[in-house]
Amino acid sequence: MKIAVLYGGTSGEREVSLSTGKGIIEALKKNGHEVIGIDFDPRNLTEIVNLKVDLAFIGLHGKYGEDGKIQGLLEMLNIPYVGSGVLASALAMDKSKAKQIFEKNGLPVAKGLTIEVGDYSQEEIVEMVKKSFTPPYVVKPNQEGSTLGLTIVKKEEQLPDAIKLAAESDDVLLIEDFISGKEYTVAIVGQRGKEIALPVIEIIPKSEYYDFDSKYKPGGSEHIIPARIGESLTKEVKNLAVEAHQLLGCDVYSRVDFIITEDNHPIILEVNTLPGMTPTSLFPDAAKVMGWTYEQMIEEFVSLSIK
Ligand code: DAL
Ligand code: MG
Repeated sequence: MKIAVLYGGTSGEREVSLSTGKGIIEALKKNGHEVIGIDFDPRNLTEIVNLKVDLAFIGLHGKYGEDGKIQGLLEMLNIPYVGSGVLASALAMDKSKAKQIFEKNGLPVAKGLTIEVGDYSQEEIVEMVKKSFTPPYVVKPNQEGSTLGLTIVKKEEQLPDAIKLAAESDDVLLIEDFISGKEYTVAIVGQRGKEIALPVIEIIPKSEYYDFDSKYKPGGSEHIIPARIGESLTKEVKNLAVEAHQLLGCDVYSRVDFIITEDNHPIILEVNTLPGMTPTSLFPDAAKVMGWTYEQMIEEFVSLSIK
């Protein structure tokens, strides 16, 4: 098959995507496909418009890649692509909207507040946050990945800098209760309605929490698969992950991130429609435990995308 791999891009997660893209390109070549790698730049779309391929594999992360926009362009060009469609991608990328959907459907999420930066002064934002939250709480850009722009505010005086940092990535901020517990994630794969949850991954970061360095530095975190959480909690977390994936209308694959509290309550953090496929990423590790090589995992996504 002739497959275009779109990677790189211009989002804050460009470096991550360069690594994801490299992995996908090498795997597709090993699987015998003819591969055209494209370092995607939304300011130059002619390369995409003129593409003559059987399938596009999106190895992008973040804005213009994971948020439904490139998916919309590919739809207009009638180029089939791997993974979730326009709406599911946009919803998953918009953490605040996704949270509302989860909450309305009874799925557990952290208490959150969404603030449009342009509508208020910095002082007004500080006041709004202080009124609803006491430290520790989390300030993050509503649409971003890889924990970029995120601060765990432990003391009130950190708040102005936390707002500034998050606002560099997005003009919408999401403030959430800090959930004390450990991080877990569940990789989902399958056709609509027939998704399976891969074994739950327990994440042991080397730093205080699962930040950018512990995500991407070799040895930055340990992934324990299956997670040591017992049978019934494992079942609960897997069911929640499939439900979250389905509620947003995701397709082919995704990865659903959780915190499990000290008293064993799973809280959904977010759904990633284009989870990292780098050498330190989580999804490939879960696939490995299922007996799939990286190449087999990528080929599975391709097969599931040709309808
Ligand atoms: N946003 C990164 C790529 C992930 O979730 O794996
Ligand atoms: Mg993410």
